[in-house]
Amino acid sequence: MIALTAAILTSLALARASSAQNVFAHFMAQNSYSYTPSDWTNDMKTAQSIGIDGFALNIAANDYEVGQIVTAFAAAEALNFKLFYSFDMSYSWQQSDMVDIVANQSSSSSNFLWNGNLLVSSYEGESYGDSFWSGFKSALASKGINITLAPAFTSYRDPTQASTMASTFPSIDGFFNWWSWPADVDANLTTATDLAYQSAISSRSGPYIMAVSPWQFKNIDGAGDWVEYSDTLWDYRWQQAVNDVKPDIVEIVTWNDYGESHYIGDINPVVDLGTQAPFYVDGFDHSKWRDVANYYIQYFKNGSAPTITTDEVVFWYRAYPKGINCSSGSLPRNADFPEDAVFALAMLTQAATVTLSIGSNTVNYSAPAGISMGSVPFPTEDQQIPYIEISRNGNKVVDGYGSMYVNQTGCTYYNFNPWVGSISA
Ligand SMILES: *[C@@H]1O[C@H](CO)[C@@H](O)[C@H](O)[C@H]1NC(C)=O
Ligand SMILES: *[C@@H]1O[C@H](CO)[C@@H](O)[C@H](O)[C@H]1NC(C)=O
Ligand SMILES: *[C@@H]1O[C@H](CO)[C@@H](O)[C@H](O)[C@H]1NC(C)=O
Ligand SMILES: *[C@@H]1O[C@H](CO)[C@@H](O)[C@H](O)[C@H]1NC(C)=O
Ligand SMILES: *[C@@H]1O[C@H](CO)[C@@H](O)[C@H](O)[C@H]1NC(C)=O
Ligand SMILES: *[C@@H]1O[C@H](CO)[C@@H](O)[C@H](O)[C@H]1NC(C)=O
Ligand SMILES: *[C@@H]1O[C@H](CO)[C@@H](O)[C@H](O)[C@H]1NC(C)=O
Repeated sequence: MIALTAAILTSLALARASSAQNVFAHFMAQNSYSYTPSDWTNDMKTAQSIGIDGFALNIAANDYEVGQIVTAFAAAEALNFKLFYSFDMSYSWQQSDMVDIVANQSSSSSNFLWNGNLLVSSYEGESYGDSFWSGFKSALASKGINITLAPAFTSYRDPTQASTMASTFPSIDGFFNWWSWPADVDANLTTATDLAYQSAISSRSGPYIMAVSPWQFKNIDGAGDWVEYSDTLWDYRWQQAVNDVKPDIVEIVTWNDYGESHYIGDINPVVDLGTQAPFYVDGFDHSKWRDVANYYIQYFKNGSAPTITTDEVVFWYRAYPKGINCSSGSLPRNADFPEDAVFALAMLTQAATVTLSIGSNTVNYSAPAGISMGSVPFPTEDQQIPYIEISRNGNKVVDGYGSMYVNQTGCTYYNFNPWVGSISA
């Protein structure tokens, strides 16, 4: 009886362990062309230090990526970091090449397993049809490799299409909702898509993967000129994950997609960003967004808000007001949506006054213990830099400045990518 109870408790513990919340970051393997093993190790250690379990490797059909992935698995094994493939199906793939890539690393201890199967995901791929995906799974199964397939079929965004998606694709086990920005609207993103697709695949064996992203801005000729309204997204999207959707897996979009401005990894100078992205990426550090991720990852994994032990304000802002004319690049679609303001996310041990100041504008707000957000509008004066302060009972706790100016003149390239900084005690 006692042994039986112990066995039941053990199996319950195992069942819970297999459905534990995991956090991955979407990693563009395309950007690893010049990576040495230490570049992989550094990225993985940095990700691991904020609670990220692994990378979803976005692999396009480039030969060099196959070699880089061998390096990535070796680096991951040494750190007990996890990896799964996210096949970028916007490229043209042969099923047999995908099978070879998965099979080649299938015995690595760094594969992320879902119920004992290798997890495989994608970006797009619905146009290949269900038979392609069922064939992919059975080709691997015939090699003794069982996978759990959770793709991002990006044309499925409309909540009313969720059950159609599920019935059209009987061979998928889970689903990855890529859409983590508003859809060309001047409104905040809701969880409607998440909840509909989470429910549509709930009877299947695989995970619901929810994308959480800090920003979206691109300005590359031929590849897109847009911005999506993202001013407070990095806060409220995480709130949706921890409070409302509670997905099996959060996938941060992205670690290193510099061209779309949603990177939370460092800007690594060995990465070739092409000719235009450097105009809006170089100098626009996002590393402090990881401090926000660190907080919410603990929250997501534990189910309740972590205790904050250091007072900090993470803040972000663009370098130009949206109405400015720039001498090159293109005015992005939706350029009118972002607010001209410095946004600040306070993480406080106890209630405090947060001062947000830029030029002649100052906002003081009473921030509670825990997380809160405030903002201060851009001033009209040229070449201003924000000043941020935390104070309690009139006594300064910590203060500091941003290191990117907000300019009203002299714009040489349309840039809606924010600079991110922080002050901390
Ligand atoms: C398989 O791994 C070997 C190294 O172990 C590598 O040389 C080869 O390119 C890989 N092939 C595929 C298809 O991943
Ligand atoms: C793969 O799945 C099949 C069917 O569920 C099962 O019989 C087989 O043992 C599994 N193989 C591995 C290697 O887990
Ligand atoms: C989006 O949500 C934030 C709070 O997170 C709010 O301050 C802002 O006004 C909202 N934006 C719109 C366009 O409704
Ligand atoms: C998890 O949350 C509980 C409260 O629900 C708290 O007691 C515990 O310290 C938390 N664990 C971590 C690691 O934050
Ligand atoms: C931008 O250019 C347009 C057209 O040349 C002009 O009407 C507008 O006043 C300019 N705006 C600024 C802020 O210079
Ligand atoms: C805001 O707070 C700062 C620091 O406590 C104080 O010096 C300043 O007078 C306050 N400004 C306003 C407008 O309340
Ligand atoms: C803002 O203007 C200052 C002074 O001219 C300049 O050093 C800085 O590079 C400008 N910032 C941007 C983002 O253009």
